[in-house]
Amino acid sequence: MQADILLGLQWGDEGKGKVVDFLAPQYQVVARFQGGPNAGHTLEFDGAKYVLHQIPSGIFHQESMNVIGNGVVLDVIVFRKEIHALNRNIEDIRKNLLISKKTQLIIPTHRVLDAASEASKGKDKIGSTLKGIGPAYMDKIGRNGLRVGDILQADFKEKYNKLLQKHLNLLKQYNYTDYDLPALEKDFFDAIEFIKTFQLADTEYFVNEALASGKTLLAEGAQGSLLDIDFGSYPFVTSSNTSAAGASTGLGLAPNKIGKVMGIFKAYCTRVGSGPFPTEQDNDLGEQIRKEGREFGATTGRPRRCGWLDLPALRYAIMISGVTELFMMKADVLSILDEVKVCTHYQLSDGTITDKMPYCLISEPVTPIYQTFKGWKTDLTSKRNVQDLPQTFLEYIEFVERTLGVPITLVSVGPDRTQTILRK
Ligand code: IMP
Repeated sequence: MQADILLGLQWGDEGKGKVVDFLAPQYQVVARFQGGPNAGHTLEFDGAKYVLHQIPSGIFHQESMNVIGNGVVLDVIVFRKEIHALNRNIEDIRKNLLISKKTQLIIPTHRVLDAASEASKGKDKIGSTLKGIGPAYMDKIGRNGLRVGDILQADFKEKYNKLLQKHLNLLKQYNYTDYDLPALEKDFFDAIEFIKTFQLADTEYFVNEALASGKTLLAEGAQGSLLDIDFGSYPFVTSSNTSAAGASTGLGLAPNKIGKVMGIFKAYCTRVGSGPFPTEQDNDLGEQIRKEGREFGATTGRPRRCGWLDLPALRYAIMISGVTELFMMKADVLSILDEVKVCTHYQLSDGTITDKMPYCLISEPVTPIYQTFKGWKTDLTSKRNVQDLPQTFLEYIEFVERTLGVPITLVSVGPDRTQTILRK
């Protein structure tokens, strides 16, 4: 078998939680491969709403095995809170969840460093979720990090103290004192004991053996392709590879083990935090979309910036990840509008018109060129079949699909599992 990947193609918050939950019954293994508690995957079913930050979205399906891969950075305190919030039998969760021993740990001072670094940047701040993601990946790449497997070793405390000392020196340089280390450490070491009761494993063997024995596997991306450390709007990005390649390094799956790459996008765009956003509508229209789409961060509660669908950006994300099929989310939100716009090209400052992403949207700002569509003005949330969709909306879907050259196979018309239409 080959592994399938599910990715967000914009700036995150595309609705990955809902789709993984919807797809999970088809997969025997669901694995997270990058990111950490900066993610917030929202799932709604049976009248209840859950937000998962680090636990794979297959956890609600008894038959799915869930893997937190080596590419993830794990905050054990957030993890413990998440487990309790699931309201599930903890023994069942223990049976269905594997954590890679090679997963990097976020220690409390990573979070403090994130805050200190952002504070020092002033108006140039990234708009980080302040969950310690950047500092934890810095320590990973700098070869100073602590891994989940280390907590089982006798010298864990020694290694921790070494890293702590490095962080305290850095915090001194930032002149940052706004933290209570003893309280943070108590919580951290309690949570370390908690995590020891879970299955800590060499998950690269698990995922490869699962595929070899014919099991289906879904790699669940976090954040979005335009926040990718290499291909996103650097430096306003997250610190991991959110594109398809991240699934290979973050789980130990060779590229020839990858099958379908499913890309999710919203029928409009949102971005949370700082950074360029060519189609942003920083006006009443953006406010209307934010309200109708409940566009507030699942992790931080921050209002999301809203704007029109950006096809050059989407096409770029599709190219980088080799996306084979597309899922369109939240078109129901646009039902309130008389007309809907889509950015098809960018105009550069020298007048050139292009459908490619420039090297840097900050130093090379672009003016979006739009195509306008008649609004569908129909409540889509109760629709369950393609035949029931209004013609105006079908024309919008077909235009997007034709321009991107990848089939849109799923259309989501609401947050619940049942509000999902399969197209082909
Ligand atoms: P960090 O990953 O917390 O350092 O944040 C870096 C940037 O990525 C900020 O602009 C965040 O708002 C954004 N970001 C991080 N995680 C997510 C996510 O899951 N959804 C949307 N934006 C995110």
